[in-house]
Amino acid sequence: MSTHKSTFFCKECGAHYVKWQGQCNKCNNWNTIVEEFNEISKKSFWDHKNSELIRSKNFPKSIDEIEIKDECRIKTKDNEFDRVLGGGIVAGSIILLGGEPGIGKSTLFLQLSLMINKKVLYVSGEESENQIKIRANRLNYSNKNCLIYSQNKLESIFSHAEKIKPDLLIIDSVQTLTLGSIDSMQGSISQLKTCTSELIQFGKKTSIPVMLIGHINKDGHIAGPKVLEHMVDTVLQFEGDRNYLYRILRVKKNRFGSTNEIGIYEMVSEGLKEIVNPSEILIGNSDQKLSGIAICASVEGSRSFLIEVQALVSSAVYGTPQRSSTGINSKRLNMLLAVLEKRAGFHLGSKDIFLNVTGGLKVEDTGNDLAIICAIMSSNNDINIPENYCFAGEVGLSGEIRPVNRINQRIKEAEKLGFSKIFISKYCDIISSKKIEIVYLAKIEDLIEHIS
Ligand code: TYD
Ligand code: MG
Repeated sequence: MSTHKSTFFCKECGAHYVKWQGQCNKCNNWNTIVEEFNEISKKSFWDHKNSELIRSKNFPKSIDEIEIKDECRIKTKDNEFDRVLGGGIVAGSIILLGGEPGIGKSTLFLQLSLMINKKVLYVSGEESENQIKIRANRLNYSNKNCLIYSQNKLESIFSHAEKIKPDLLIIDSVQTLTLGSIDSMQGSISQLKTCTSELIQFGKKTSIPVMLIGHINKDGHIAGPKVLEHMVDTVLQFEGDRNYLYRILRVKKNRFGSTNEIGIYEMVSEGLKEIVNPSEILIGNSDQKLSGIAICASVEGSRSFLIEVQALVSSAVYGTPQRSSTGINSKRLNMLLAVLEKRAGFHLGSKDIFLNVTGGLKVEDTGNDLAIICAIMSSNNDINIPENYCFAGEVGLSGEIRPVNRINQRIKEAEKLGFSKIFISKYCDIISSKKIEIVYLAKIEDLIEHIS
């Protein structure tokens, strides 16, 4: 016996209410609560527990009895993607990829399906088979075992997947999926939650990894309830400025690997190209001596590379000075400006400040602080920093230069690219180097002596 019951869910956080209200108590967002109709079975769970559960062959096992099969990770031939996941796709895992529209999510997954030497079922609820073929023609790979299926009904997807038994199931996108037994619209919270949990069960039972593309909402989070991210094994984020060519693949959650890894790609006319040596393309090659430019020896994940930070400090034209940063957290910029003002005596209160990371990259490493400060000082005083200098250090609130992780790796990368001087914290534990001069700094004041 079943009955229709209407419930209310918050679209942002998935909180559940018995009646409608304007603001969600949990996430405090307005107008995010929507009504949904669910079919609720009145039959008690305990009624059929003996018949169904006990008959299943799955029993609790001792951890020592569980054997890991050899081929439990699938390598995709895309080294960036494999590294981001921690060494390939884990069998039976569910991967969710989010990102802005047009950033290249469908291109990335289609390219992976064509690169990989396995049987792939690529399901799209967004594009027709013809459209996918046109996209595939642009990419330089081909895979006879890549099956394309334009469908959004989960029942049909499962029935084909069971027959085909692919090595990998890709779904573009999870928001387009519908399950007939759920009485609510495509993309609704109930549909999203139920379809994802069905896919998770499918993945775990068949050991076929499932890769899902997810839309994001205006705040940059994956559209739908937060629980979606809790349910899946891995959450990836594809980001980058659409006006630039570089794309970064970040890990927000990974049950089978580190969340620090990043993958860097370039969007070219033949799809996404892996970037093996990011430093070479991220540093400008200008021969002219320009002020406001500093190079940081940065680390993202396990990889170190050099990036160029550009700053422009000018007198404010309008009453309120502007602070604008691309690629660097604006709160971090404000903090660094306050430190410069208070600890180094720079009067930036009436200046417009623009900061930019070349290539449209977004960087999160606090080791870039020192280079950001140098770029600002250089632009403010209109003096150029010698092009063979680079920086790696975090700046504290009292103006102290603090050590950063993987300092030896940063120094090696700077050395490899021919830099002659690297400025780091006095408190770093380093292996000495002969090729590059290391300058130790304790506080910002020490830096001023070197670059003025
Ligand atoms: P797409 O994968 O459709 O984005 P998403 O699925 O995240 O919405 O990417 C579309 C963009 O990628 C589009 O602006 C064109 C560009 N693109 C290339 O530059 N080269 C290519 O080979 C392909 C297939 C797309
Ligand atoms: Mg797409």
